[in-house]
Parts: sequence; C-alpha cells; structure tokens
Amino acid sequence: MNPDASQYAVSIQYDRRLYREDIAGSVAHARMLAKQEIITEEEAAAICDGLLAIRAEIEAGEFPWRPELEDIHMNIETRLRERIGPTAGKLHTARSRNDQVATDLRLYAMRSRQRVDEAIAGLQKALLARAGEHSGVIMPGYTHLQRAQPVLFAHHLMAYFEMLHRDRARFAHCRDAADLLPLGSGALAGAPYPLDRRFVASELGFSRLSANSMDAVSDRDFLAEYHSAAAICMMHLSRLAEELVLWSSQEFGFISLAPRHTTGSSIMPQKRNPDFAELGRGKTGRVYGHLMAILTTLKGLPLTYNRDLQEDKEGFFDTEETLLSTLEIFSDMIGAMTVNASRMEDAAQRGNMLATDLADYLVGRGMPFREAHGVVRRASEHARSLGKEVHQLTLEEYRRFSDLFDSDALEISLKGSVEGRDVPGGAAPRRVQEAIAAAKARLEESFDT
Ligand code: ARG
Repeated sequence: MNPDASQYAVSIQYDRRLYREDIAGSVAHARMLAKQEIITEEEAAAICDGLLAIRAEIEAGEFPWRPELEDIHMNIETRLRERIGPTAGKLHTARSRNDQVATDLRLYAMRSRQRVDEAIAGLQKALLARAGEHSGVIMPGYTHLQRAQPVLFAHHLMAYFEMLHRDRARFAHCRDAADLLPLGSGALAGAPYPLDRRFVASELGFSRLSANSMDAVSDRDFLAEYHSAAAICMMHLSRLAEELVLWSSQEFGFISLAPRHTTGSSIMPQKRNPDFAELGRGKTGRVYGHLMAILTTLKGLPLTYNRDLQEDKEGFFDTEETLLSTLEIFSDMIGAMTVNASRMEDAAQRGNMLATDLADYLVGRGMPFREAHGVVRRASEHARSLGKEVHQLTLEEYRRFSDLFDSDALEISLKGSVEGRDVPGGAAPRRVQEAIAAAKARLEESFDT
C-alpha cells in the first residue's frame, strides 16, 4: 500500500481509548487458555505481567503508539512481543480481532453507562435542590408558549427530573444490552479449542454468553441503543436549554444565569448571552448525527464482520463526551442560576390564568363545563376591553355573564388555583412536596436488573 492508502485504515488515534478494556479482555483470555491447558501457566503469567506493564506504560504516557500498526489491538500485541518475546504470539490463540473488538466495545459501553448514570443523577440532584429551595414560588405554566395556568416553579423543575429518570432507565437498558460476552466467537464461527467461555465472562463481569458466533462478531445493536438513549437525553437537555434561554431573556426575566455561564457581546456592551445553554442545545444536533451514522453504517451489512464496523467508534466516543460534559455544565448552571421569584409571580398575575378556575367555579354550581367555558371566555373578553384581568372583575360585572356567580367567586386566587390541583402528579404544593420527597428516594433507586 502507498502511505496514503494505509493512513485511510488507521484507527489508533481514537481506538486507543479502548486500551483498558482491551487489556482486561486479553488478561481474562490468557488466564482461561492456561486453565484449559491450551497454553502453560508460565506462558499465561508472562503474558499477563506483560499486559499489565503495558497498561502502566500507557497510563504514564510512555507507550510508543505506532499508527502503522493500525489499531489498539495490534499496537498492544506488538508491544507485548517486544517485552516478552515470541510467547506473546500465543495470546491470540482461539481469538480474532473480530470477537476481541466486540468485547472491548461492550465493556466500554457498560462502564460508560456508569459514568452517564452518575452525571444524570447529578443534574437531577441540582434540580431537586432548587425545587426544594423555591417550593412556594408560583409561575405561569404554559401551553403553546402562552400563559395557561399557574403552577409552582418547583413543579416545572421536577418535570425535568422525570425526563431524566426515564433517561437513567434507558441507559440501564443499554447496559443490559451490552452485557454479553462475544469472546470465543473467533473470527465468525467459534474456535476449535476447549474454551471456558463462562470463566472469561465472569472474569470480565459479563452475565451472559453470546448464543451465535456469527451474530456476536457483527452485532452493534447495543451501540445503536446507546446512541438512541443519548439522543433522547440530549433532547431533554436541549428543551431545558431552551427554557433557560427564554427565562433569562429580558422578556421573561425569570432567572439570571451565573456570569460564568454567560458571555458578553464584542459589540454590544450591555449584553450577557446564555452561550452555555445555547451550546448544549446546539450539541444535540451532533449527537443525533451520530445516531443516524451508526444506523446507516449497520444498514445493509452482510454477516459477519465487515470493516465498516470500525466506523462505530468515533461517534460513540464523541457522543459520550458530549453528553457527559453537557450534563455537568447543566448541573452547574441550574445550581448557580438566580431565581427571580417576584418576576415569576408578577407574570402569573397577568394572562387571565385564573379563567379555568372561574369556569370550574361555575361547574361547582351546576353549569356544564362547556357552557362555563363560554361564559368565562366572554367575561375575559369584557375584562380585556376594560384593561383588566378576568379575576379582577367585580361581582356585578361577573353577574352580567351568569347569575351563578356569587361573592366567593372574588376569592379565586393564584394560590387557591394551585392548591386546588390536588391530584396525584398535580401542581398542588402538597403534591409537589410529596414528589420532591419521593424523588430523593428515587435517586437512590437501582435500575439494574
Ligand atoms: N480495528 C478493527 C475494528 O475496529 C478491529 C477488527 C479488525 N478485524 C479485521 N478482520 N480486520 O473493527
């Protein structure tokens, strides 16, 4: 191959990230080969010692990476030969890079899930802390981004806790999908040696063995699932980002982001831009892109291993990094933002948000809901023509629209409105308190099956 062509096949610049998993897989494999008397105990010991020394070398930044050896597997094996001589060549008995790389990726995905789970829980804790701190603050709840009904700010934050809870469950499922040992599948058909695959699985922490060697070397479903879970989680973060952008605008003024989460404009001195929220929203696009890329890479591949599969790694690592850093930044952003409670409550006073409560009042006095809806709509239009909110009309004015109105209609308030929504999952302060208390326990829940 001319030098340019060989460059094309090189993956070491990114698959070196798998060194820990690759060495763990090789150590387990070598031990098993000795246990099954395929190699001697002395050979296995030399191989394992050599591999652990190589790991230390990599971690000390002293490993001589060689792109001409293409990938992590060949780099480590060649180095092993330099250290222990021809015995190194026995490590690859009953193994192929095809089952080796599939094993590495599955181990990496399981460990990555642990990191992601902790980062998601970190953001949940930040949301929970702010919800607890501002548990009495009322804000406008929106539909169609129009003021709809009053809710507690805490209830709004806790909606994101729920999304993230589902994300954790999805990543637990990803871990489960990755939890299967491909090693022992050889290049595609298995290996003509008396392997103890169970032993290798338990050494590496896998609870299942692959049931079909051809599937095992070419299956990357667990990566597609990981990408999908990451894309959904980023979608949630992007929604949160959008709210932070809106809330921190002058138009809303509900929050102020900490100075470290905003930047100034190079031309407009008065501005503080919510760049970090925007970047989180923007990075969602590349995570979606990686999901599309892995699905497209897998599409149409004949069994079994094809080199196309080498393209499964960069997007995977980039998605992990993007998701983890976004979760960390967002936890910090939520923890450090200033909540402008009075701005939220002022906004809640406007927008006729007690209209539904007035309709419910009439329903309580026997009027069918549809009819009550019409009455309050007309009363609201009248209030608007007077420059008032519907809950600011006088009893006389109300009575022009229905004689079911009585003086207690004047007592309808924002606080009464939220308190009235006392159903499980509803916006009532009592229910929100319960949700916050339950969330603390749910944070500790294990999703593992
Ligand atoms: N670097 C390769 C990959 O990531 C390793 C497997 C190579 N196998 C092969 N038959 N060329 O897919």
